[in-house]
Amino acid sequence: MLRLRSVTPPAWAEAVCREPLALLSDHAHCELRAAASSQALINRHTARTDLCDRLAAVAVEEMSHFRQVLALIDERGGTLQPGPPSPYVEGLLAASRRERTDRDDALLDRLLIAGLIEARSLERFELLAVLAPDAGLRALYADLGPSERGHAALFPKLARTHFDGARVDQRAEALEEVEAELLARLDFAPRMHSGAPTAG
Ligand SMILES: [Fe+2]
Ligand SMILES: [Fe+2]
Repeated sequence: MLRLRSVTPPAWAEAVCREPLALLSDHAHCELRAAASSQALINRHTARTDLCDRLAAVAVEEMSHFRQVLALIDERGGTLQPGPPSPYVEGLLAASRRERTDRDDALLDRLLIAGLIEARSLERFELLAVLAPDAGLRALYADLGPSERGHAALFPKLARTHFDGARVDQRAEALEEVEAELLARLDFAPRMHSGAPTAG
């Protein structure tokens, strides 16, 4: 798994749980985006059969998580809200090297960025599984944890299968730093990848 270079404070989990429907709606969009980005990678790297197969399995799992979160939103009398852009995901993608310059560099970066998003989501699911004040949220995040852990391990493994180890290590280190710096700059919001709430 990639290394997270910052730790989400428990105050983040307490704050996002004050608006559970907003958190769940944002989370549902994270699942949709994860499925869509796996499908987009398949489309761009059709000759890498093993990669296509693994990414298809991820997309199927993410869509089943989407349905699980959507059902919980409905159970609570809410509806899925339109998905606003994610400054977290956009910030990470801005650090990714471009497809038109080098297809392989771009793929390596996309795999590592996906691995970082999964690792950060796992960290936050684990906090919510313990700290969420209501049992329904604790159960959801405890349930989704193992799958997220699997994805967080899979993406760096795919990077190592398709690229040289030293090349992966060098890029992983740079992107790990980008991720922590980006998160530190983001404002708090009731969203899965928001910044920490300010004290007071
Ligand atoms: Fe998921
Ligand atoms: Fe995932």
